[in-house]
Amino acid sequence: MRSDNDIILSTDHLVKTYRGATSPAVDGVTLSVGKGSIFGLLGPNGAGKTTTISILCTLLQPSAGKATLLGHDVVRDAAAVRGKIGLVPQDIALYGSLTARENLYYFARMLRVPKSLIESRINESLQLVELTECADQRVSTFSGGMKRRCNLAVAILHHPEILFLDEPTVGIDTQSRNLILERLTELKQQGMTLVYTTHYMEEAQQICDDVVIIDGGRVIASGEPRQLVAEAGGCDNLEELFLVLTGKQLRDRTE
Ligand SMILES: Nc1ncnc2c1ncn2[C@@H]1O[C@H](COP(=O)(O)OP(=O)(O)O)[C@@H](O)[C@H]1O
Ligand SMILES: [Mg+2]
Repeated sequence: MRSDNDIILSTDHLVKTYRGATSPAVDGVTLSVGKGSIFGLLGPNGAGKTTTISILCTLLQPSAGKATLLGHDVVRDAAAVRGKIGLVPQDIALYGSLTARENLYYFARMLRVPKSLIESRINESLQLVELTECADQRVSTFSGGMKRRCNLAVAILHHPEILFLDEPTVGIDTQSRNLILERLTELKQQGMTLVYTTHYMEEAQQICDDVVIIDGGRVIASGEPRQLVAEAGGCDNLEELFLVLTGKQLRDRTE
């Protein structure tokens, strides 16, 4: 059993209804994330993953409910939360006309990395995502996978305690995908907590300690992947479990 001390992030009936929308995008999500774990927020497109992660990263305000991260309320103590987290956004956020190293330098300054540490942090981040050799090439010349890896390098420059990743492996080659998954596990081994959204269930099963599956903004299952699959009976994996719970095929949905 995990004690409350091990919980680094929790939400309590989080709700978000966008202006003008008839139903909530996030509809009462309650979850807790263990320190030093990889936590998967899973669900098909439109499930409410990005909305949830945006609230946790202080980019969006919830309509109701509460989220606490390292003892800080994400609405009231937004500034304190921002200093402790990193975000790999769903869309690539890099300057194409700058090189990878120039991008990292720019973001290191934005993230207030002390000047004396900037060079070593940039080199360390480049090494982690295996972009050292391409560091002086413009990002616009990079493949999709290289851009995703560079996006990850940016998010860890300031050594965040919790790293949020929103679908970091969408639309990239298998090699880059495997490298990213491997490196996420490595970051966990270094003590970082990772909160990770994906609609690739097999990927989550591979690297997540705990998962929450959401559909239509609501939690439909939560727990350790292996245990969830075992408890469902007759399912071999999380994707089959999703089908049993919802009657919907994930792969029928648009990418
Ligand atoms: N800015 C927005 N304004 C209105 N509706 C939105 C906005 N962003 C997302 N939505 C809607 O909220 C729901 C959840 O979206 P999102 O959180 O992006 O899901 P996911 O990341 O799981 O694909 C979807 O129905 C989507 O159309
Ligand atoms: Mg999304």
